[in-house]
Amino acid sequence: MKIIIINGPNLNLLGKREKEVYGDQKFENFLNKLKNEFGGVDIAYFQSNVEGELINRIHETGFTYDGIILNAGAYTHTSVAIRDAIAAVTTDVIEVHLSNIFARESFRHESLIAPKCIGSISGLGMESYRLALLYFSGKNSK
Ligand code: DQA
Repeated sequence: MKIIIINGPNLNLLGKREKEVYGDQKFENFLNKLKNEFGGVDIAYFQSNVEGELINRIHETGFTYDGIILNAGAYTHTSVAIRDAIAAVTTDVIEVHLSNIFARESFRHESLIAPKCIGSISGLGMESYRLALLYFSGKNSK
């Protein structure tokens, strides 16, 4: 079973960036823990600050992978192109956010991508990713 986690802009700075909002853990450390926990799942990871690169990776994985876990960062609130990419592929996408976007500035309350995702998890820190993975791995073991 193949799952990809795709992180968007500024998420390469996790562990350094606004720690009070996003925590102090580097994503790579968390990813290693996830890989240990979900031994039977092939977990790929991609991060980019570039919108088109995120779209390319959605296209590349979106017809063959079993699930995409996507934190589009600020593009969540602005990108019609990422929304269209999610709509274009056949693989299910779960939207995740570390922070609770609904408890923050009003411009973060709207997600352009949410209607094209099968579900959204927001506000649970790194646990948001783990729960998305749990969903995909449970789904395929049925
Ligand atoms: C975020 C929330 C977005 O509003 C923000 O632009 C981010 C991170 C989150 O994970 O909480 O970069 O997606």
